[in-house]
Amino acid sequence: MNNEIQAQRAFWNSEADAFQKIYTHRKSRFANTLDQIFRKDMYERYEFTIANCEPIKGRNFLDVGCGNGLYSLELARKGAGKVTGIDIAEVMIDLCRKSSEQQGFSDRCTFIQTDLLDFKPESKFDVSFGIGLFDYIRDPLPVLKRMREVSTDKAIMAFPRLWTWRAPIRKVRLARKGCDVFFYSKARIENLMRDAGFSRHEITKVGKLYCVVAYS
Ligand SMILES: C[S@@+](CC[C@H](N)C(=O)[O-])C[C@H]1O[C@@H](n2cnc3c(N)ncnc32)[C@H](O)[C@@H]1O
Repeated sequence: MNNEIQAQRAFWNSEADAFQKIYTHRKSRFANTLDQIFRKDMYERYEFTIANCEPIKGRNFLDVGCGNGLYSLELARKGAGKVTGIDIAEVMIDLCRKSSEQQGFSDRCTFIQTDLLDFKPESKFDVSFGIGLFDYIRDPLPVLKRMREVSTDKAIMAFPRLWTWRAPIRKVRLARKGCDVFFYSKARIENLMRDAGFSRHEITKVGKLYCVVAYS
């Protein structure tokens, strides 16, 4: 892992507990209300991704930057054959493994601490997805190429949009915590999908994000 990835890893290790609470809602009523307003698209991108993973039953998935494993575990719950979640932050991976064991999915879910570019899977996946990932990646092209290479059907991605009121606020807020954030125009995403070698793609505006489904 290079220095930038190490910095991201340290940031997400320290934020893992707070991040999990965005989904579990174990917060004050006021904080939950703020999340419902300002993090609405986190819930929307989740709906978008799970819907676009269909058909789920029996298929294999790669969750890149799996965080606390919400998506991976939901796919297992819906009957996925095998789900692999990878993340650079070991605290996130520990959360995933604990939840997977508690929910009885350890036979079908595997969680590995690694960067995608160092990950050597034994076989390909039907679908790979990277959600809340490209926000933190300075050079997304190698990651997108790798996602295409390991996916036989499609890859699903979410990119934070460049021209939103929230982008500069987020940039400054996270920079103060040592975390770089990156934003994307639609034109740049079009170029990235072409350069990564996807055969075709669809871009959907979801709140302050572009959600993309790209076919191998
Ligand atoms: C905002 S969280 C998103 C987690 C999950 N995908 C979700 O949407 O609930 C971002 C995650 O990406 C991970 N991450 C950041 N850069 C990464 C990289 N280069 N490779 C793998 N994971 C990375 C972080 O450790 C963190 O857990």
